[in-house]
Amino acid sequence: MKNFIAANWKMNKTIGETREFLRSFIPNVKDVKDTDIVIAPPFTSMSAAAQEIKGTNLRLSAQDIFWEEKGAYTGEISPSMLVDAGCSHVIIGHSERRQYFREEDVIVNRKIKAAKKAGLGLIFCIGESLEEREAGKTLDVIKREVEMGLAEVDSDNLVVAYEPIWAIGTGKTATTEQAQDVHAYIRKILHNLYGNKSEEIRIIYGGSATPDNIDGLMACQDVNGALVGGASLKPESFSRIVNFKRV
Ligand code: 13P
Repeated sequence: MKNFIAANWKMNKTIGETREFLRSFIPNVKDVKDTDIVIAPPFTSMSAAAQEIKGTNLRLSAQDIFWEEKGAYTGEISPSMLVDAGCSHVIIGHSERRQYFREEDVIVNRKIKAAKKAGLGLIFCIGESLEEREAGKTLDVIKREVEMGLAEVDSDNLVVAYEPIWAIGTGKTATTEQAQDVHAYIRKILHNLYGNKSEEIRIIYGGSATPDNIDGLMACQDVNGALVGGASLKPESFSRIVNFKRV
């Protein structure tokens, strides 16, 4: 199975900063063969990023999507617009969207279906809050998010990102044991849903992944990659993550 490492830039980087990052980053990762490398810039930088990565081993992801194809939806962007802009993937269900924009499981599922119909690969995010973890509800939350998000959805071109909310942007990474335990559980639920086909699904970790902890995380049996926020904003640190060493 190929690894999958994606940069989620969130609301960071102008067009100029996007070009500058990619010109310095691309030479550092050009020989990477066994990892899919994906960059998710803000919409305004998408077209510049698409130009910069042309002919390279990088691919582009959007950070969000709307489920309708066109029409009176002020501010929204459709699946086919993303494809047209050069995206091969889209992040759906990120905890920041669930938290700040009230995206519930039903909305996440609608977006997933629309993305699949347009042929986009999914980076489907799930994860528990600190409160839920402390109340012993982690596995229940994960099960609900996976089953509702993926209702009536096949497993093609699906990447599942486990992002414990308490680890996002906090510098508090999950331990390798915590990550492995939840990843193994996700693998089990995916097996219930998809049988043997589930073995092809990459399950990636997100939440304060850095050059310092990536090697340990990637050594876990069920961690097949990473979704990186803060540490993906500098070319040096993100290229060290992409060039992780299996310990
Ligand atoms: P950080 O790497 O900044 O914790 O963000 C993780 C994340 O939310 C990626 O989607």
